[in-house]
Amino acid sequence: MKHITCIEDLRQLHKRKVPKAFFDYADRGSYSEDTLRANHDDLQQIKFRQRVLVDVSKRDLSTTILGEAAALPLILAPVGLLGMQHGDGEIYACRAAQAAGIPFTQSTMSICSIEDIAAAVDKPFWFQLYVMKDRGFIKSLIERAIAAKCSALVLTVDLQVIGQRHQDIKNGMTVPPEWSLSKLFDFASKPAWVSGVLRGKRRTFGNLVGHLKGTEDITALSTWINSQFDTSLNWKDVEWIRSIWPGKLVLKGILDVEDAEEAAKSGAQALVVSNHGGRQLDGAPSSIEVLPEIVDAVGSKMEILFDGGIRSGQDVMRALALGAKSCMIGRAYAYGLGAAGQAGVAKAIETIAKELTTTMGLCGVNTIAEIDDHVLAI
Ligand code: GLV
Repeated sequence: MKHITCIEDLRQLHKRKVPKAFFDYADRGSYSEDTLRANHDDLQQIKFRQRVLVDVSKRDLSTTILGEAAALPLILAPVGLLGMQHGDGEIYACRAAQAAGIPFTQSTMSICSIEDIAAAVDKPFWFQLYVMKDRGFIKSLIERAIAAKCSALVLTVDLQVIGQRHQDIKNGMTVPPEWSLSKLFDFASKPAWVSGVLRGKRRTFGNLVGHLKGTEDITALSTWINSQFDTSLNWKDVEWIRSIWPGKLVLKGILDVEDAEEAAKSGAQALVVSNHGGRQLDGAPSSIEVLPEIVDAVGSKMEILFDGGIRSGQDVMRALALGAKSCMIGRAYAYGLGAAGQAGVAKAIETIAKELTTTMGLCGVNTIAEIDDHVLAI
């Protein structure tokens, strides 16, 4: 771990340690990957104002997220199939987040179930919901999240229709893994991964098993998701979810001011400005491009969270400077998990925290609350 100095190092290690199909699933985006690249490239265009001879000896990353104290303005985003990056990956990622004092969000498409995680950690975590056609099942998932004392429900609103990820199709991405000859060779070259995943509790979608037909024996993941996800989802369903989920509600996947205005009327406490990490609408603007207009429109009515291309503390600072309250990371910690399990996730969080505190110091800032567009050279 001594030689890991940045998120890209974790990415390279993840790539070496985990079978290609699972690495690519985390790493790649939809279609031409233009939006995936724009998320990163547009962030890097934003330059800081270097400030000197300011007393920055009292730097403090602490903040609040949805009214709860957090050690830094960072949240682990929902990422599907973490348990295929590392056995029991969701549990390890959640433990690393909780040890670092930030929220972890469990994906509906997790390998561990809600109950598996709840039994393995001692603080509440967030649960992310995908709405499927069987509304009785969705209601029961929400009830399970309530029973597990999840502290927020993150409703993903940008995946009614799935953006094609070419690489997943080429890799024959399946759950459980399809034991083709080329995969067996790939797996054989990654013995630590194999033994870790075999030691894990499950190898299929833990939240869905036994409820939806096909979770034990599915063909291409995207085909299966397409057949289960409800394309009729609309604002009335958000109302329904609001009526059965008593806790904090976050709408994830807002990229447009009109949608943000609807979100502000929906009873949700927060929204996440997100294009699903460039995995959905290829050709959509980067998240950072639309962040300022969404903050202007609804920032006084709800908490604005941000994701899309965050790979460093500098990137967190950029998003905060443009009005985000906290940032979600997805790939950045998934790389850590694939690279080194819980220690790798901890390393990803610690790396970003150190970069953020250094960047604050060099910009002459001591607290998260002080970060606004004055830190930018524009
Ligand atoms: C699911 O949320 C995915 O992006 O694969």
